[in-house]
Amino acid sequence: MDEKRASGRYYTRGNPFQLEPFLSWAEASHLEQQVALEPFAGAKDIPQLIDAANLQCRDWAFFDIKPGAKGIVQRDTLADFPTGFDVCITNPPWLARNSATRRGLPFPEATRYDDLYKYALEQCLTHCGWVAAIIPEAFIRSGLFLQRLQDFISLVPQTEDKTNYPPDKGGRGVSVMFEDTEHPVGLALFAPHVTPDVRIWRNNRFLGGLNELRRHLPQPSGNRSIVFNDPDGNLGLIAIDNTVSASIRFCPPAELGDYPIRVHCRSITKIGVPWDVDIDMLNDRLATIREKTHDVFLTAFKGIRRDGHYRRRLDWALTRAIVDNENGVKE
Ligand SMILES: C[S@@+](CC[C@H](N)C(=O)[O-])C[C@H]1O[C@@H](n2cnc3c(N)ncnc32)[C@H](O)[C@@H]1O
Repeated sequence: MDEKRASGRYYTRGNPFQLEPFLSWAEASHLEQQVALEPFAGAKDIPQLIDAANLQCRDWAFFDIKPGAKGIVQRDTLADFPTGFDVCITNPPWLARNSATRRGLPFPEATRYDDLYKYALEQCLTHCGWVAAIIPEAFIRSGLFLQRLQDFISLVPQTEDKTNYPPDKGGRGVSVMFEDTEHPVGLALFAPHVTPDVRIWRNNRFLGGLNELRRHLPQPSGNRSIVFNDPDGNLGLIAIDNTVSASIRFCPPAELGDYPIRVHCRSITKIGVPWDVDIDMLNDRLATIREKTHDVFLTAFKGIRRDGHYRRRLDWALTRAIVDNENGVKE
């Protein structure tokens, strides 16, 4: 497993390249006439998926530090990135810095990023105009590389498509993306030029522009009189969805009973708020935000809910903004 982690060898499964935003990107980049670069080629899954989506490029150039198939040039592309390519389609290696440290795995000195995929993506964007990359869904909340980001698609496995797994090269939509992780993933589509806004999608469904969606968030709050993990708090919060539906909610602290409030706990907490809280109103606010923003700003984590969506977490910063009395939700 560690060897697998070391090179981030989670091969792509399913076919996000059949989705509409990718088809538009392929047209705009003149993919058909291009030699496409796959700098982290693994077992060459991506060209097969492109093929299965009935798309073509003039040719491919493959590189990998540890080639998993014939016809791949062995190269450390993070240290020595291939040049002369306008189009790059890839699924770069992912490895969180803290996970590397914990496991005693090497992590490139050259980067200040907290995950290897961000460094890999930066290399792709520095050397190529058009970049399509399968990366963690959390990327859209990182605020990185937004200038040239044209579309971001949250790739949600569709249960009815599981019958098409392993990919039959013709399956509809997106089936199970990563057979061994179920990690929430997205497809980021970059252009060579600055884009006016980022279009956000969930598979083929357009959710809105990133700036437009952001307008439904409350003003950030720096109100430190709202205290998290306060054993005597007057507001309870269950900050993660259950496996069934969008169930994050505020509740009376008594409902959490003697649940031990731990300093580092990020899922269930009691919050000390120095005024009387209206729990129903807070839950209404939360529901409105979730509906209008389609959960784009809530971290997704492993596991699909029974209603077909990723489970989400509400972080402390957004919680504070919702709870803060001074804040109303902008319509
Ligand atoms: C997540 S896998 C993706 C494989 C392939 N793109 C796919 O979608 O099936 C990442 C790949 O990056 C390769 N890799 C990791 N570090 C690398 C480096 N420094 N230079 C080149 N390839 C690297 C791994 O060997 C692995 O094959």
